Amino acid sequence: MPEHAFLDRRRRGLLVAGGTGVLAMALLRPWRALAQAATDSARPRIGIIGSGHLGGTVGGLWVKAGHPVLFSSRHPDELKDLVAGLGPLARAGTVAQAIDFGDVLFVAVPYGALPQLGRDYSDAIRGKTVLDACNAVAARDGAIADEVERNGIGVTSQKYLPGSRLVRVFNTLSYTIFAREAMRPDPRLAVPVAGDDLEAVRVAAALVRDAGFEPVVVGKLADARRFQRGGPGYGQSMSAAELRQKLSLAPS
Ligand SMILES: NC(=O)c1ccc[n+]([C@@H]2O[C@H](COP(=O)([O-])OP(=O)(O)OC[C@H]3O[C@@H](n4cnc5c(N)ncnc54)[C@H](OP(=O)(O)O)[C@@H]3O)[C@@H](O)[C@H]2O)c1
Repeated sequence: MPEHAFLDRRRRGLLVAGGTGVLAMALLRPWRALAQAATDSARPRIGIIGSGHLGGTVGGLWVKAGHPVLFSSRHPDELKDLVAGLGPLARAGTVAQAIDFGDVLFVAVPYGALPQLGRDYSDAIRGKTVLDACNAVAARDGAIADEVERNGIGVTSQKYLPGSRLVRVFNTLSYTIFAREAMRPDPRLAVPVAGDDLEAVRVAAALVRDAGFEPVVVGKLADARRFQRGGPGYGQSMSAAELRQKLSLAPS
């Protein structure tokens, strides 16, 4: 066989193979899109309200886990360095943009700011899963800290963020501990969780795992008092088994 005939056949073969490849790619594209959509839905988008020590740290852990995260501030320009350091899944915006962006919201602001947030964004947060990590400190937050003491923090947060699917989480330890202990080898650091909405609690527990910790569901919002400041579950840096024992919860 002349060499050019061999080359022609080879070229034709490559063209056919290439054509088949293109066809296969075209056929695969919708499946890829579906697979991507499934992956995206498995990684909910998160809007961070209060991108300070705690919000910046926990939000950063979610970015590392592959979640798209919008960090918000009343001065979004000040978040440029934070988001630049976290890569393309992180972006900065206003509080309104974070609420619009997030399938899930993570709130880490001074507790005294919650009533204002609830008033300013009452329609936007209705029906949203809101992970609330705020602690009430009398010296900083004023009289609302007494209300928290009287009624419990979960019930009080729900009162000020009405209509949201509120879950209490990530409030018990310093952001420095969360930064240091995330994804540590088993046993992972326990993070207590409480909420009235079972689906929102499930989402929160999955996000605790994604951030590199072990969720311990303590109960409903009324039970969040068990791990608010001064409660037995507050400030406990321990494994899930130890925290369950400490709070007399059934072993998982
Ligand atoms: N730090 C911790 O280790 C830790 C641990 C557990 C729980 N917590 C609780 O988490 C919350 C945040 O603590 P942090 O130490 O992260 O505080 P932080 O570093 O001061 O950050 C709080 C952020 O809240 C934002 N903010 C303040 N007032 C606001 C308002 N009215 N509306 C919207 N955003 C507002 C501020 O953002 P802009 O000024 O940029 O808008 C600020 O960046 C507190 O309730 C704290 O008790 C903190």
